[in-house]
Amino acid sequence: MAELAYLDNAATSFPKPEAVHEAVDRVARRCAVNPGRGGSELAHEAGELVDGLRRRLHVFFGNPAADSARLVFAANATDALNTAIAGVCGPGDHVVSTRLEHNSVLRPLWELERRGVLTHTLVPGDGAGFIDPADVAAALTPSTRLVILNHASNVLGTIQDAAAVGRMCREHGVLFLLDASQSAGLIPVDMDAFGVDLLAFTGHKGLMGPMGTGGLAVGPDVAVDPTRWGGTGVRSAHRGHLEQYPWRLEAGTLNLPGLAGLAAGLTWIEQSGPAVLLAEERRLAANLISGIEALGGVRTWCAGADERHLAVVSVTVDGMESDEVGTRLDVDHDVIARTGLQCAPLVHEDLGTVDVRGTVRFGIGPFNTDEHILRTLAGLGECAEAARSRRG
Ligand SMILES: Cc1ncc(COP(=O)(O)O)c(C=O)c1O
Repeated sequence: MAELAYLDNAATSFPKPEAVHEAVDRVARRCAVNPGRGGSELAHEAGELVDGLRRRLHVFFGNPAADSARLVFAANATDALNTAIAGVCGPGDHVVSTRLEHNSVLRPLWELERRGVLTHTLVPGDGAGFIDPADVAAALTPSTRLVILNHASNVLGTIQDAAAVGRMCREHGVLFLLDASQSAGLIPVDMDAFGVDLLAFTGHKGLMGPMGTGGLAVGPDVAVDPTRWGGTGVRSAHRGHLEQYPWRLEAGTLNLPGLAGLAAGLTWIEQSGPAVLLAEERRLAANLISGIEALGGVRTWCAGADERHLAVVSVTVDGMESDEVGTRLDVDHDVIARTGLQCAPLVHEDLGTVDVRGTVRFGIGPFNTDEHILRTLAGLGECAEAARSRRG
């Protein structure tokens, strides 16, 4: 079997740097005990690991006016987004978000609207995968409490102007929640510079950490009410859950080996240089896009390899459903892509790609090579040819 060409890094980065595996293994064997629960040396070591990473991510995401305790860990970005949305919105509140969002934003909004907790408006993209901040401003109402923006589309790779949306939110006194699931670790995500009040991130994509890691960074002037209550390891006699961060939003046992891996992933990207990693991924994306244009019969959707795009390329093959393209790439070429709606159904409704069962998405990562792209192009060429011959 040829070496696997894993091009689904927008779902989760794979493989991870060796240092990530080593850190997970080392901590699982050495000090995977509950931090803060008990005064043992091991509990202290575990606590240092968690708080050290907390401080590093707090700086990494540019939240200097807040206490680093306001960076709380979560199971993933979905968990963090749910905590943020349900934790700041109450009855009568209105939320503005976009049609480029992932289901981890859309479904909480739909569910909370169904329960009568909030109402919301979804701003459409401009047809090229970008949100015009003026459209977000136009959707605000006197009851708008929160604006939620997907920093980079997981279907199209398009990067939004988060700073412009943040400025607009500040002017209108509205909270700004940024979903940095795709962007964190690849492009600067700076809460202070962008005017972000709440930042949701995941650890297992661009930050190169293990699955089951992520978090929410909370700005200095934001009150997020807990949506879960439970053990914190401190002041256990109290009947109420702790109001102080991080315990306020962190209940239960953390994924310590996972967080050790995330710390190693962060070190790896800092040493490699996010800009260097992204430049190489964009070079491969540019080759993929130009190769596709030369093939004929394969269409890219809002693709680009410039500074407004991450290395995420969605395609369709004329006359062949995306599932079949994905299967042919996998079975015949050992190329792994992501087919379907990629948990962002409204993007596909707007592109008109629902009828062909979504797109085939290539998410290029730091371990992809020129050979992976050439193999992908060969596979797409075969699909286009098969579809042509079927049509006769
Ligand atoms: C834009 C975006 N938001 C949120 C998520 C959810 O991330 P997680 O799977 O870590 O919950 C993803 C994952 O695909 C995503 O791409």
